Amino acid sequence: MKFGFLTSGGDCAGLNAVMRAIALYLDRNVKNAEFLGIPDGYGGLVRGEGVPMKASDFAGLLNVGGTVLGTRRMPFKMMTSEEEDGETRLDKLCANYKKLGLDCLFTLGGAGTHRTAALLCAEGCNVIGLPKTIDNDIYGTDVTFGFHTAVDVAAEALDRVRTTSESHGRTMLVEIMGNKAGWLTLYAGIAGGADAILIPEIPFSIDRLCESLEADRRAGKRCSIVAVAEGAVLAEEAPYRRKDRAFARAERGETTVTAHLAEVIGERTGTETRATVLGYVQRGGNPSAYDRVLCTRLGSYAGMLARQGRFGVTVAVSRGEITFNALADIAGKYKLVDPDSEIVRAAEGIGVCFGR
Ligand code: F6P
Repeated sequence: MKFGFLTSGGDCAGLNAVMRAIALYLDRNVKNAEFLGIPDGYGGLVRGEGVPMKASDFAGLLNVGGTVLGTRRMPFKMMTSEEEDGETRLDKLCANYKKLGLDCLFTLGGAGTHRTAALLCAEGCNVIGLPKTIDNDIYGTDVTFGFHTAVDVAAEALDRVRTTSESHGRTMLVEIMGNKAGWLTLYAGIAGGADAILIPEIPFSIDRLCESLEADRRAGKRCSIVAVAEGAVLAEEAPYRRKDRAFARAERGETTVTAHLAEVIGERTGTETRATVLGYVQRGGNPSAYDRVLCTRLGSYAGMLARQGRFGVTVAVSRGEITFNALADIAGKYKLVDPDSEIVRAAEGIGVCFGR
C-alpha cells in the first residue's frame, strides 16, 4: 500500500513527530508499505509532486520542530474555484491522488486543512486527518498537537517579562497568537501568572481592566502582566464583524488591540506600560515532552486506522483517550473557549481579570 503525507497551514512543533509515528507503525504492521512525502502542503499535490521516503527517513524526527515536507497556506475557498485551465484545485488534487497511486493520504493540519480533507473524501480519496495547531481550535478534539509546546514557550516569555516588569515597576502587555481562539493566551496566561487575560471569547472593558490593575497596585503589587490574545476584542468592538473591526483598526494604523491598549493603560493608570508581541517564536522550535508523547499516540493510532481501512476521519483526543471523528462532522467548525468554563472561573476565582 502507498501512503502519502502532507503538512498544511502554519507550522508548529510536532508535525515531524506525528509523521514519524505513522511511518514507524505502518512499516511494522503493513506488508510492503510505501511512503510518499508531498512537499508544501496541498500545493505539492496540486502540482502532482511526491518524494518517495522510507520509514528510516522519519525515524530521527521525534524531537525536530517544523516540518521536513514544508508547508503552505492554501485557503479553503480557493479549492473549488475554477482556474484558467477550467479545472479547480480540488479536481487537480483528486487527479494527482490517483496519478501518484496513493491508497491513503495523511493530512496534518488545522481547521482549514480539515475542510479540504473532507472535500477530498467526498470525492472518493482515502484521507486521514491529524489535528495540528498552536491555536487548539479544532472541533471535536480536547487538544491539538503543537499547542502545549506553544503554551510552554509563551509561559516562559511571561516569566521573563515579569522580571523586567518587577525591576521597572512597569505594566507589561504580552500579545499571544491563537487566531480567533483564546486557548493559547488562557493557558499561557494562567501558567505565567498573568494578572489579566484578554481573549476573543470574552470581549473586555478597558475601564474594568484599568480598575483591576490599579487595585493591584494599591494592594502593593509592583508589577502587572497582561496576556493579550491577538484576537482580543474591546466590548465596544464586539458587535461588529471581524472584517469591519480589522478595517477600523487599520485606519488607526493598528493591527491588533495591544498597541492601543498600551497607550490607554499608560495614560489612565499613570504606570509605565510596554507591549511585547511574541509572534512566531511560539510556533518554532522542538516539541515539548508532552507533545512528543501526544504526537506518538496520535500518529500510531492514525497508522492503525489506515491499516484497518478506516478513512474519511481525523484523529482526536477525548477525555484523555485517542479516538477519531468523521471529517464531514467536524469540517468548518471551531472549538472556542467557553467564557463560563471551569478553567476561566478558576482563574477569575483567584483574581485574574478578564476585563468583564
Ligand atoms: O494558526 C496558527 C497561527 O500561528 C495563528 O495563531 C496566527 O494567527 C496565524 O497562524 C499566523 O499566520 P501566518 O503564519 O500566515 O502569519
